[in-house]
Amino acid sequence: KKKIAIMTSGGDSPGMNGVVRACVRMAIHLGCDAYCIYEGYEGLVRGGDLIRKMEWQDVRGWLSEGGTLIGTARCMAFYERSGRLAAARNLVAQGIDAVIICGGDGSLTGADRFRAEWPSLLKELEENGEFTAAQLEPYRHLNIVGLVGSIDNDLSGTDATIGCYSALARICQCIDLIEATAYSHSRAFVVEVMGRHCGWLALMAGVATGADFIFIPERPRPDNWREEMCSVVEHHRKLGKRKTIVILAEGAIDRQGNRISPEMVKDLLADPKGLGLDTRITTLGHVQRGGTAVAYDRMLATLQGVEAVKAVLEATPDTPTWVITINENKIVRKPLMEAVQATKKVAQAIKRQDWDEAMALRDTEFSE
Ligand code: F6P
Repeated sequence: KKKIAIMTSGGDSPGMNGVVRACVRMAIHLGCDAYCIYEGYEGLVRGGDLIRKMEWQDVRGWLSEGGTLIGTARCMAFYERSGRLAAARNLVAQGIDAVIICGGDGSLTGADRFRAEWPSLLKELEENGEFTAAQLEPYRHLNIVGLVGSIDNDLSGTDATIGCYSALARICQCIDLIEATAYSHSRAFVVEVMGRHCGWLALMAGVATGADFIFIPERPRPDNWREEMCSVVEHHRKLGKRKTIVILAEGAIDRQGNRISPEMVKDLLADPKGLGLDTRITTLGHVQRGGTAVAYDRMLATLQGVEAVKAVLEATPDTPTWVITINENKIVRKPLMEAVQATKKVAQAIKRQDWDEAMALRDTEFSE
């Protein structure tokens, strides 16, 4: 019987439990044994009871649970060859040579390297006398398939990462709450949202809440952004708005690459010589990441989980490590490293200050 293991890695995201549920059940449906690797790469390295066989009923109710119930961790040991050797030992000992990983681009890149290194890891296990060549024979090829779980929506090549729409919905709910109090006091709020180096959450939250002004890393404002923001806010106030919402991506920078902090924006809005607005800062933080998945993320997790199981069973030594994406509403398999390379190009474009290229690589339409 083929044994397929599923793990979650990197920062958790809403929908990860839906992924695990779909993979476990699809694997069982296709006559395979399903395993979960608990605590991300930590579980792969430590093995033992962190790699557990799962039954159909073990994942009952998981669609509506937030976070990841099988845990996740940032694991330093996996960066070392000895850690990856232990991981290979644990997989072979359990008879597993097919792994589905749901995580961000860093976690998925690690998985691709592990797969490439697999033959040399097996060789070392054989040379150490831990397994015989005959014992290793059925596990000569490791098949890995990636699923992108992240609230940041920062992987190029997919329209949406699993979790981003849940985080966006949470941000919008929070801004609705803030708006009520902002209106009451006629105040301004600087709302800082997550996203690491990606501005998707800030940009879409701005559109969805009708924010007065936004800052994102991929398209820093021109050098006169201070005057620009103040004149936009002043104009909105003159139109009769009693509340001002400025959304700031946590990775927001100016055209010189310097971070724009919430305090800088607040001081500007509050400057008595300028707008003089009574201003507060709200950093939304991890409420954006926790909590249950919206319907879209549950659907994405389920459809992509099913596809990941099919892909890992169809993979051969000649196929690339696949990542499952969604493009124009279709679930697609793509070479993982192509998507990772395209993502790296965004960072390079930002460094070169080629903002149009950065936005194009993010597949995001944007006009000033
Ligand atoms: O990648 C997801 C994310 O939530 C980012 O938006 C954020 O920058 C980061 O993780 C926070 O990481 P941590 O939970 O380790 O503080």
